[in-house]
Amino acid sequence: MFSDIAQRYDLLNHLLSANTDVAWRRRTVEAAVTGREAAILDLACGTGDLTLEIARHAAPDVQIVGADFTGPMLRIAQQKDTRTGVGWVEADGMQLPFPDGHFDLLTNAFGLRNMESLEGALHEMRRVLRPGGRMAILEFTRPDSRLLRWFYVPYFQHVLPRLAAMLSRKTAYLYLQSSVMNFPNRRELARTMQRCGFVRVRHCALSFGIAAIHIAERPTS
Ligand SMILES: C[S@@+](CC[C@H](N)C(=O)[O-])C[C@H]1O[C@@H](n2cnc3c(N)ncnc32)[C@H](O)[C@@H]1O
Repeated sequence: MFSDIAQRYDLLNHLLSANTDVAWRRRTVEAAVTGREAAILDLACGTGDLTLEIARHAAPDVQIVGADFTGPMLRIAQQKDTRTGVGWVEADGMQLPFPDGHFDLLTNAFGLRNMESLEGALHEMRRVLRPGGRMAILEFTRPDSRLLRWFYVPYFQHVLPRLAAMLSRKTAYLYLQSSVMNFPNRRELARTMQRCGFVRVRHCALSFGIAAIHIAERPTS
């Protein structure tokens, strides 16, 4: 599915979110990157917008890896990359080709919802983080406010797939709304992270709860 929409992915993201996605990624980087990391993995990096934002903020000598299992998405990321030194790797988040405890920070924007198994993916993310390392997840969620849901749900279920159908593949955006509706809300997601062995799990809502950032850590022992 992501191979089919790769060429139009960035355009649709910016258009359908009125460019809010750019601000959400920036907030994620500000919340996640301390400048003290030696190695950072952006998992499910897609066309690389979050990875490249990380490269702009991180220390110059840090190792940054952008990993995704969809070749056409990765190729667009590589085309956008003008000498940041990011390593682009084709890899499955369910079985990462990295040693245990390698990364100080792992980020993931709008990817976790798409993984085959939420808990399996979280266990694999925890494995590649060093003890004390941090994970930052940017994901869609559902707004708490009933009033907002009154606007948001019809937009998401009816308007968005129709707009997407004009510019890209409608089924991908039908999938988007069903995957968001079926994904745990942000409190449930925080509890799942704790069950998968993460500590100091905290989350903040973005744009009235349309999206959220979760930050969590691998315990030191
Ligand atoms: C909605 S896009 C998000 C891309 C990017 N992070 C962004 O912020 O725009 C989801 C990405 O997750 C990737 N993905 C889904 N499941 C994956 C998996 N098991 N392993 C690696 N990448 C995966 C897809 O290939 C796709 O590029």
